[in-house]
Amino acid sequence: MAKKLQYVCNACGASASKWAGQCDSCGEWNSITEEKPLSEGSSSKSIGAKRGGHVDLTDLSTDEAPPPRTMSGMDELDRVLGGGLVPSSAILVGGDPGIGKSTVLLQAAAQFASNGLKTIYISGEEASAQVRMRAQRLGLKDAPVKLGAETNLRDILTTLEAEKPQLAIIDSIQTMWVDTVDSAPGSVSQVRAAAHELTSFAKRKGVSVILVGHVTKDGQIAGPRVVEHMVDTVLYFEGERGHQFRILRAVKNRFGPADEIGVFEMTGAGLQEVKNPSALFLSERGEPSPGSVVFSGIEGTRPVLVEFQALVAPSPHSQPRRTVVGWDSSRLAMILAVLEARVGIPFAGLDVYLNVAGGMKVSEPAADLAVAAALLSAREDAALPKDTVVFGEISLSGALRSVSQTENRLKEAQKLGFSTAIMPKGDKAPATAGLTAKRYDDLTAFVGDIFGAG
Ligand code: TYD
Ligand code: MG
Repeated sequence: MAKKLQYVCNACGASASKWAGQCDSCGEWNSITEEKPLSEGSSSKSIGAKRGGHVDLTDLSTDEAPPPRTMSGMDELDRVLGGGLVPSSAILVGGDPGIGKSTVLLQAAAQFASNGLKTIYISGEEASAQVRMRAQRLGLKDAPVKLGAETNLRDILTTLEAEKPQLAIIDSIQTMWVDTVDSAPGSVSQVRAAAHELTSFAKRKGVSVILVGHVTKDGQIAGPRVVEHMVDTVLYFEGERGHQFRILRAVKNRFGPADEIGVFEMTGAGLQEVKNPSALFLSERGEPSPGSVVFSGIEGTRPVLVEFQALVAPSPHSQPRRTVVGWDSSRLAMILAVLEARVGIPFAGLDVYLNVAGGMKVSEPAADLAVAAALLSAREDAALPKDTVVFGEISLSGALRSVSQTENRLKEAQKLGFSTAIMPKGDKAPATAGLTAKRYDDLTAFVGDIFGAG
């Protein structure tokens, strides 16, 4: 049977069962038109013809002040959050187990609480006594943070509703259990349901919520990946187990720049902020040695100098090794191919190892030239001139392309006592006082000048 047609007045929105020349409700002439269903198909499968309520629409212009933010006083954390904690925001802190998520959040909770934010820390992994012992070890036992050890989300939400905190930390989302979902804690459906409940609670009640999520190396197991799109901010806590440096990286932030990093050092007394990461990453660098190149990089809004180390050795294998730590392995393959095809320097039959010192991860294409320089320096067994920094993107043609924030890169290099910068010619930024800029058009010119004819 054909669906009964609906008619609606375009002036006042009144609906009628048949067409008329004048609207009964508002008296407007020629305003009634036939109304099409909202979507095709049966209403059990699609939205169909049934109308919903009208959503209030507003203009883009607004006088609303930006949300007031609360600073923790830990600069490295505040910067990664985009300049402090935004009220009613939902934040996910992901990272490998044991990397220091609980430690940094307990320290942050203590700081926020001391700054007047009512803070509740719910641990689903450790008993309250364990958390208290850690707080004592970190020297935080007097901070006005309220602790709870619970995994039942219904109880947690009820408690939060009664206590009305301004910040709630849930450690971890994988241990939360929602009683309406029929699967084990840590399963994707439990994690998703718990995160949904908590983020919508944050918005409704004006509570900032920080969720801890464990990720495995490949980000697989019931990972917080399913949670990423529900929250406002996603921070990843990275670091190599053997190194004491930890990097808190914003990968998504609705209230600030993404790609911002905060650098910490894990010590016996918890995580200490590292105010000058360049100095730290370069601290163990000795005399210039073959294969070592300093790259002037940008992380978010901050310049960071890191050292690339390369080792090139004859390979005993039929398939030479390509091993990379802290940089993208397909990008390395690309640079090796460009060196071979455009400059005529082959790496066939040679094992190539590339490492970023200090456990830092670099993802900028601006590091291309530094990687190429490290590879060539290792292959030719010739160190780069002393006190030189390198940056620039390499295109497949072998040309050097300019990169962003050149001035910041140069300033940081100059500040740390470097005297020469090797960079693309296209970069028009004026050289910083005290720094000599060596500019090249393409890889061939660079290789010819620095390493002789190759
Ligand atoms: P933790 O915060 O429990 O990790 P996560 O919550 O990410 O699983 O950190 C555990 C590691 O940190 C553990 O190996 C010990 C180390 N640690 C220190 O080195 N110093 C400290 O003061 C603390 C509290 C932990
Ligand atoms: Mg933990």
